[in-house]
Amino acid sequence: MGTKLIIDTDPGVDDAFAIALAALSDDVELLGVTTVFGNVPLSATTRNARRVLALCKRADVPVAAGAPRPLVHPHPHAARYAHGADGLSGRSAALPEPGRELEPVDAVSLLATLLEAADEPVTVAPIGPLTNIAALLAAHPGVHDKIARVVIMGGALGHGNTTAAAEFNVWSDPEAARRVLGGGEVPCVLVPMDLTYRCAVDTGWLGTLAASGPVGAALDALTPDYLDHYRKALGWDGVVLHDAVALAEAIRPGILRTETFPIEVECSFGPSRGATVVDQRRPELRADTEGSPDPTAVVVAVDTDLDDLRAFVLGRLAG
Ligand code: BDR
Ligand code: CA
Repeated sequence: MGTKLIIDTDPGVDDAFAIALAALSDDVELLGVTTVFGNVPLSATTRNARRVLALCKRADVPVAAGAPRPLVHPHPHAARYAHGADGLSGRSAALPEPGRELEPVDAVSLLATLLEAADEPVTVAPIGPLTNIAALLAAHPGVHDKIARVVIMGGALGHGNTTAAAEFNVWSDPEAARRVLGGGEVPCVLVPMDLTYRCAVDTGWLGTLAASGPVGAALDALTPDYLDHYRKALGWDGVVLHDAVALAEAIRPGILRTETFPIEVECSFGPSRGATVVDQRRPELRADTEGSPDPTAVVVAVDTDLDDLRAFVLGRLAG
């Protein structure tokens, strides 16, 4: 049946593309989708996730709503500046109404139930703040070994996008990110914004998607506000589909080239709050580890064949 997958998400335009990428892939068994606050409040991210699944005719996929706020500290602000007032460039209502009821349980309960029932390890793909996943790991240690990989869109090796130092998903709940990345409980693959930016697609790519059929046209229709934002961020006409890049790796392991680095998440309240501090020094210069396995080591996506990646995502979305 293919890769067993659960997506934890805060749609978000690039989340919508990422959900569709998994929902339309025959080699993925999409077990469920859980939602979290983030780009817009939880009620909107949940509605958007359910509508994107309806667009993809996936009424078989259960959706449960999760955390409306970070674990510890209040959430300073959402990302309407990039994704529009409703999270989908003001176009959420143009998508079909959800094809099934919201699950009557919370996101962590659905994650735990799906993992417990799985007969082989499951890939979990968090593409929003890591609040639900931190809560799952804390409350359900029995499911850790049911998780094959946690493929996370988040973090930055260089500068951030929400602050000078921090990428949005990690900045939104740094304590949760520290628990997931630094807990050593499950294998994590971090797909940081340095690489997702390099995978940006242009309006030609979006035009090909739009011309591919009704689903492609509906996804392209979600991009106007996002395009406005990324026109400024990139300096050219294109968008960064951060979350779809992470889903590409979740669906096709190895499509991104990875390296392993020790990572710490900055949880103080200075200007670096939410930064992922990635130790890129040669291992022999990391005196503190003295050759023993480093519990803070995380697999980080650093490169890919950019054209292949763009073709892979377009091929799956265009059908
Ligand atoms: C991440 O932040 C959100 O705005 C996007 O959906 C993506 O998950 C990129 O920093
Ligand atoms: Ca997201």
